[in-house]
Amino acid sequence: MTSIKVQADQPGARINPAMWGIFFEDINFGADGGLYAELVKNRAFAFPDPLMGWMKISPSHARGEIFVRDGGPFAPTNPRFVRLQSEGAAPFGISNEGFRGMGVRKGEAYHFSAHIRGMTGAPALLVQLYGADGSLLDSVSLNGFPANWKRCTATLRPNDTDAKARLALLVEGKGTVDLALVSLFPEKTWKNRPGGLRADMVQMLADLKPGFLRFPGGCIVEGSALERRYQWKNTIGPIEDRQLLINRWNYEFLHRPAPDYFQSFGLGFFEFFQLCEDIGAEPLPILNCGMACQFNSGELVPLDQLDPYIQDALDLIEFANGPVSSAWGAKRAAMGHAEPFHLKMLGIGNEQWGPQYIERLARFTKVLKEEHPEIALVASAGPLPADERFHYLWPKFRELKADIVDEHCYAPPLWFLANAHRYDHYDRNGPKVFFGEYAAQSVAMVSTKNRNNLECALSEAACLTGLERNADVVRMASYAPLFAHVDGWQWTPNLIWTDNLRVYGTPNYYVQQLFSLNRGDVVLPVTLAGVELPAVPGGRLGLATNQTVAEFKDVRVTREGQTLLSSDFANGTPGWSVERGNWSIKDGAYQQADPTSAGLVLAGDVSWNDYTLSLKARKLGGAEGFAIVVRYNGPENHVVWNVGGYQNQFHGIQARLAQQDHLVAQAPGSIETGRWYDVKVELKGAKLDCYLDGKLVQSAEVPPPQVQSLYASAVRDDKAGEIILKVVNPGADISETQIHLAGLTSVASEAKVITLTGASLGAVNSLDHPLAVAPVETTLNIAGPRFDHRFPQYSMTVLRIKTR
Ligand code: AHR
Repeated sequence: MTSIKVQADQPGARINPAMWGIFFEDINFGADGGLYAELVKNRAFAFPDPLMGWMKISPSHARGEIFVRDGGPFAPTNPRFVRLQSEGAAPFGISNEGFRGMGVRKGEAYHFSAHIRGMTGAPALLVQLYGADGSLLDSVSLNGFPANWKRCTATLRPNDTDAKARLALLVEGKGTVDLALVSLFPEKTWKNRPGGLRADMVQMLADLKPGFLRFPGGCIVEGSALERRYQWKNTIGPIEDRQLLINRWNYEFLHRPAPDYFQSFGLGFFEFFQLCEDIGAEPLPILNCGMACQFNSGELVPLDQLDPYIQDALDLIEFANGPVSSAWGAKRAAMGHAEPFHLKMLGIGNEQWGPQYIERLARFTKVLKEEHPEIALVASAGPLPADERFHYLWPKFRELKADIVDEHCYAPPLWFLANAHRYDHYDRNGPKVFFGEYAAQSVAMVSTKNRNNLECALSEAACLTGLERNADVVRMASYAPLFAHVDGWQWTPNLIWTDNLRVYGTPNYYVQQLFSLNRGDVVLPVTLAGVELPAVPGGRLGLATNQTVAEFKDVRVTREGQTLLSSDFANGTPGWSVERGNWSIKDGAYQQADPTSAGLVLAGDVSWNDYTLSLKARKLGGAEGFAIVVRYNGPENHVVWNVGGYQNQFHGIQARLAQQDHLVAQAPGSIETGRWYDVKVELKGAKLDCYLDGKLVQSAEVPPPQVQSLYASAVRDDKAGEIILKVVNPGADISETQIHLAGLTSVASEAKVITLTGASLGAVNSLDHPLAVAPVETTLNIAGPRFDHRFPQYSMTVLRIKTR
């Protein structure tokens, strides 16, 4: 039987009230076509193809012309307009398809607006909504257009609900009208704000009671090149002044192109701050640090030209917090918010790495700490949770005395299960951690087959118990990405899915909600017994290369005087199997000849450990040295001694787990081309000693991935006087568990039990079954501080126990 002991009388760290937050990025139609409730796509005809999203409507008798013009704008920042010229035989004009259609509801009000001027004749303009099947949902006629631009409005009330409606603008009668900035908004937005946000989507955020809201991303912060970076100053003020920008997710993935994806910035920085205020979240803006996305161009602003970027940060702080008498505070007030937004944190860069980042971060830090010591700065630890870039950055952050470090991880569920103890050994006195982007990937990062299933949600929950237990180090966490439109996504999995009318939370959403709504104030120590599943260090061994031609010979594996393997390759390669690369025997050595491949050959048995492996290896050309693989239990679970790896810059012992490379130890050194090296690796339990030419180069303890049958964390909610125990059972068996709330003599006899579970690990929610996997609340009678509970298979359970 397993047991959980909560030390109720030994409160630990206080939990950041802003611990569980949300990450917003305009990806998957998250803003335009999503949270920003505008229904007209390409409303200003500003896309490079000015009529993208628009279609000519010219029924049989109609005769007319459509012209796209750039001169004579109603606003200098909004130069483009469309001229509709009709001969008047029948209504003639254009229609807009919306964002994969327009979602409209029967009887509700939709406010149309456009800047219009009459050029010839006195035609009317029919403003009409059509359903997906072509039925007319509502029609309004506007007329009397002046020769100068005028903003004209109308209200439509569709006679039916339709998720894929479209808007038609038809000239009736002979004449010519010009149209600019065409818009259609539901009246029912969040807080009924004109031109506001989709109420149902914001409600999903509000229901999370998020501690913070990170905005605007994500890679979108960086841009694929600097000219396409996110610039907050372009996102405030009148909407006609907010210049359109191509969305980087428009073209990022060949396999999910979205050529009609642009950023209108209708949801800009003012709306971001306002949203934070509405839902009680601390604003966490992330700004470009003078680096474009390092997965794309990696373009850098020269250090002597970084000042404008730093100034943007200073100005943003003033925009958020400055008095109305300040230049940027006045702009905030002019947008309707004289009160400050109480900004307390600022992120410098998104997923950056390398010395270039550190140089730029240092400059930002110097100025911002001098001018605004009250603002906590968030630094980026790169895109992966433990690779060499990550390990380069962390010591630099310590030197810079960074406030908070933003770590990211997208990996299969096993990574999250095996990393529930990741933060147990972090430095308690160093920078704090923001686990700022994570999501379990049911298949692989960027796979279109990834699903938001229960398995992923529970693995995240297991890992989050570790974050909560380490709340003194981990101060914030957010799942990513947040939103995805079912017809417009580029990336999966995502926390919340929508179509044009509906929205649903995934099992992952409910995990987030369970942590957030049951945050508590102070951590209580938890000890689990009987939960560790067997994890034995052992596995096959291999010879490997990365972008390098190399050869190996005289391979020997011995254990306690016994030879387990001896390969001089004189008689071929019996016992070896080729996994990757172009391998053959040349002059008595086993050679990998393809300089572009990551070559790997394997030998031995999965049970092998506690042995000495010796061999000779020689690099013949290419970017790196060579690598020895041990404890190979599949492509996603093995250990590598990477000799002259990392572009031949150093040697590293690296554990591969669940699609992530964890650099466990590194040592200086590189590999010379053409020279034979004597290589030796000694394995003892979890320990590896690695020798080159008889000299110990590096050693490391690499425990095998440890997975548990049960995960738990506990907190105390001071105000409610409750102990909150969170327990995750990711396995297929019910867990009969003894629970002991040590240090208490009595507790209330009835506890609240909230359970999130599903029929199988593959269980998902959907638009049609939004609550298939959702928390269910029950009660539990308990006799005292010692009681038993059966934790269902595939479940997360929250127990709330009153102590008075
Ligand atoms: O969340 C999607 C993307 O993943 C983010 O834009 C980026 O920061 C990360 O690589």
